[in-house]
Parts: sequence; C-alpha cells; structure tokens
Amino acid sequence: FQPKLLAGRKVVMTAGPTFEAIDPVRGITNTSSGKMGYALAQACRRAGAEVMLVSGPTGLPAPLGVDHVDVRSALQMRDAVTAALPGADVFIGVAAVADYRPVSAAEHKVKKSSAELTLTLTPNPDILAEVAARPDAPFCVGFAAESRDLDAYAEGKRRAKRLPMLVGNLVQDGLGGDDNQVILYDDAGRHPQPRAPKTVVAQRIVEHLAGLLVTRAAR
Ligand code: PMT
Repeated sequence: FQPKLLAGRKVVMTAGPTFEAIDPVRGITNTSSGKMGYALAQACRRAGAEVMLVSGPTGLPAPLGVDHVDVRSALQMRDAVTAALPGADVFIGVAAVADYRPVSAAEHKVKKSSAELTLTLTPNPDILAEVAARPDAPFCVGFAAESRDLDAYAEGKRRAKRLPMLVGNLVQDGLGGDDNQVILYDDAGRHPQPRAPKTVVAQRIVEHLAGLLVTRAAR
C-alpha cells in the first residue's frame, strides 16, 4: 500500500537530455538516459498526482498514466513547459538541458573539408530559473549533476534560483545507470540518501517533496 501523498496535485516535470541541432544530421547532446526523470514521473503518478512529463529524446516508454510531450531542443522544452504550467502545483526539472545551442543550424549537411571549423554557441534559456521567477510560480524542485564539490555547487544553484528543494547527485553516481545516490537540499539543510535503484530514490524524493508541501501549506 502506498499513501497518495500527492493526491490532487498537478506536477509538471522535465526529463532526459536536449538535442541542439548543428545541421540536419548532427547536434550537441549529453548522456542523460531519462531514467531518473521517468522514475520520478511514475512515483508522482503512483502518489496520486496528475503528471505532465516534458521529455527530451530518451527512447523510453512513457510511464503508465502520465501525460507526456516529446521535445528535442531546449527551446522546444521551454515552450512545452510554458504551455503545461497553468494550474501546476509543482515543477520538477530533472532534464539535463544543454546550456548552449549553435547560433544557427545549417539547412543542409555540413561538408567535410581540411579547414578548421568553428561552431558559435549561444546560451539557452534556463527553464527552471524562468519558472521559479514567475509571480505565479509553482513549488519548484531542481536537480544538480556535478562531477565534484556537490554540496557547494548544488546548494549554490538552489539559492541562486531560489528553490525550496533541490536534488543533488554526482554524475558518476546518477548519469545513465539504474541506481543513484542523491542528497536532498532544502531550507533545513542537507539530507543524504542511501544508494538505491532510481525507482526507490524517486519514491524517497516524492516523500520529501510531499512533506515540504504540507509544511508550506501549514505556514
Ligand atoms: O537521465 P539519467 O541518466 O537518469 O540521469 C539523471 C540526471 C543525472 C540527469 C539527473 O539526476 C540530474 O541531475 N539532472 C540535472 C542535470 C543537470 O546537470 O542540471 P544542471 O546542473 O545543468 O541544471 C540545474 C537545474 O536547472 C536542473 O534542474 C535542470 O533541469 C535545470 N535547467 C538547467 C539548464 C537549463 N537551460 N534549463 C534548466 O531548466
């Protein structure tokens, strides 16, 4: 038996990588598999939430009972999130969104030559920061994947984006595999969790999130 900790809540979330086109066949992406985000979407649904999952290219089947929109680029992800936000109680950014995209994508396949080739990149919008800064912002949960100094970088991101909760993981623990080891950060401090399958980690994240939502409502 699982208590419906998120009954009546609408959760919008992102998962997977983004793909930023260079030309019709090439692009910039990363090795996010989508497993953590999809496990969390499933856990939110099992906890009774209505879930809208905006996913970059993963090849994973959508979790049962979860509404989803497939996107490719960060700009498409931002548009889909913006469209899904009305009425959302919670936004969770699990996606590994590309920080930069090529200034323009070539219309035709770039041809090989012996000359050096320079790719000019421009920053992508920070979807989570934009959602958190809205006057009608839902309760925002961020993720941070770092290769070192997890506490400093994760808590720095949480504060910079003014997030009530952030899930921190090391890339060597969380990226691609079936297990993860995370630390949850909130206004009360850091809450390390044991290494576990992503489905179990997702359940733990939902329990922590639900607790914070109850505390906030009681204020
Ligand atoms: O997909 P898996 O293989 O299961 O791996 C899971 C994961 C490691 C990708 C996941 O657990 C994770 O940590 N996701 C966040 C990845 C990341 O590096 O985020 P970031 O530090 O670049 O960004 C911080 C936060 O801002 C994230 O919530 C991110 O979704 C969000 N963001 C970042 C950039 C951007 N342009 N828009 C955003 O919304």
